[in-house]
Amino acid sequence: MRLTILGGGGFRVPLVYRALAGSEVSGVTLYDTDPGRIAVIRSVLGELPAGPPVRVARDLDEAVRGADFVFSAMRVGGTAGRVRDEAVPLAEGVLGQETVGAGGILYGLRTIPVALRVAERVAALAPGAWVINFTNPAGMVTQAMASVLGPRVIGICDSPVGLVRRAARAAGADPDTVAYDYVGLNHLGWLRSLRDAAGRELLPGLLADSAALGSFEEGRLFGAEWLRALGSLPNEYLHYYYFRRETLAAVRAAGETRGAFLERQQGEFFDRAAREPDRAHALWEATRRGREETYLAESRAASGGWQRDSCDLDGGGYDQVALALMRAIAQDRGTRLILNVRNGATVPALDPEAIIETVCEVGADGARPLPSAALGPAELGLMLQLKAVETATVEAALFKDREAALRALALHPLVDSPAVAARILERAAERP
Ligand code: G6P
Ligand code: MN
Repeated sequence: MRLTILGGGGFRVPLVYRALAGSEVSGVTLYDTDPGRIAVIRSVLGELPAGPPVRVARDLDEAVRGADFVFSAMRVGGTAGRVRDEAVPLAEGVLGQETVGAGGILYGLRTIPVALRVAERVAALAPGAWVINFTNPAGMVTQAMASVLGPRVIGICDSPVGLVRRAARAAGADPDTVAYDYVGLNHLGWLRSLRDAAGRELLPGLLADSAALGSFEEGRLFGAEWLRALGSLPNEYLHYYYFRRETLAAVRAAGETRGAFLERQQGEFFDRAAREPDRAHALWEATRRGREETYLAESRAASGGWQRDSCDLDGGGYDQVALALMRAIAQDRGTRLILNVRNGATVPALDPEAIIETVCEVGADGARPLPSAALGPAELGLMLQLKAVETATVEAALFKDREAALRALALHPLVDSPAVAARILERAAERP
């Protein structure tokens, strides 16, 4: 089985490669537009225990031809693009974040045309391949790619499974055997039911237990009072919505955006590892730890300034989700995973073609969303609003349609005026 990784010079590629040990993958092809980054990542891989042979493709066509699985993990515009996506909205007084708010829309506008080109080349050269999309903003990028690839593209994220596992542990259950109901869009979903192996519902007990809620990431982010009032456990990215004032203030107070931090931190890693290839792996490990420990720093500052625990770091990880998905398809396992797939009839108020993030059963035919309990009006309302934003973003990117882009930005709940939206569009179009 041949696996291709687009964005093969990406910082997280060694995590994926490490997870391939003992799998059915017989060869890995890396493709990246930046040869310097590929060289560094190859030195890191070279220091890992031997895994499947790695080759580097010279162009996209060579990379996808003959692939059985394609992991698409690109960052169009690089970290420098992310820095601007975050800075431009912040200068207008609204949240700038990689995937949330105006920042996510700017990132989507830049990424979708490239993702579509990838989808077209896969459809032409590897029509039987499964595309696993890691590329953020994962919901809208998967939505755009699905217009070419249909159910052969599946979007992934590690935050929902991380939430499930953390909540299960906090409730005293085995994270590997719980059953759950999670539904929403990427970075905008809710865990509404969590049952142990015996079928007992654990969520009401967990919500009533302040000490248990204080023991894991989402409990600390949102606080016991709000979680009880809400009656479910939201994805960590909903912190930017529910606590918009506090998170925006914390992001502005941080002095440096997450993108700027990563540009510096990752830039140092790639520079040093290029000069000292023998130390590439050690440098990578240290950089990875630093990245994980500082994740959500502003949200943590906005909710009392706590540190991430080791259990918050062990959420399952992108690599694990991707591998579990690939295995479930290759071995026809019937595994349950939370994935970004076509809605079908899961949320009747949404278009059947809309990409949602929900619990799926995965086998050789792909991922099938499982029926889920009806959404409450507040959650459904937010989902509909954000799906309209995503759809407008895809339309804007596809047809270079400025009105659609303005609609996407102005309709986002974290952008408080169409005039602000218009200025963000103008500033984003200026040369860096
Ligand atoms: C989580 C999110 C991802 C995001 C990652 C890294 O895992 O689900 O979508 O890419 O965090 O975020 P960072 O801010 O470190 O780039
Ligand atoms: Mn994600």
